[in-house]
Amino acid sequence: MLDAPFARIAAEIEEFARTAPNLAALEGFAVEQIAHRLPAYDWVGFYWLDAGDPQTLELGAFVGAPTEHTRIPVSRGICGAAVALGETIVVDDVRADPRYLACSMETKSEIVVPIRAHGRVVGEIDIDSHSAAAFGPAGRAFLEACAATVGAFIEMAEASQRVP
Ligand code: SME
Repeated sequence: MLDAPFARIAAEIEEFARTAPNLAALEGFAVEQIAHRLPAYDWVGFYWLDAGDPQTLELGAFVGAPTEHTRIPVSRGICGAAVALGETIVVDDVRADPRYLACSMETKSEIVVPIRAHGRVVGEIDIDSHSAAAFGPAGRAFLEACAATVGAFIEMAEASQRVP
């Protein structure tokens, strides 16, 4: 069980996913809801592994300050590490983590949650906060639920486009 307001936002993203026309619509909806309804979530975005270059993440939909990190090799950053390790990374103090690639001077903490489809990591949700240690167990569980919703959507979309 997710805590409120996380539970409500996660449920609304899941509901939107049931009728979303495509992935772009779903990721756009998700970043808007997460960023605008959770005040400590200051930068909210998706990164996707580039199909033509699977060792590189490409920036997808985001809400927040523009970032210079529009393409990130999986060998770099917290973003790359989450793909390489295949697990959620929570950084309470970004200045203390040598992997951190600075996006904004105001960022103090970050969470990156991998998105899986068919068991493989295909992308991730990345959130930065201007507050230290903004991502506790409840926030992590919420974002992992959102990542599962998006991963299931990708699997479903692929299946529905399959030519019999
Ligand atoms: N901080 C990330 C880079 C992306 S920006 O946060 C948007 C990292 O260390 O990988």
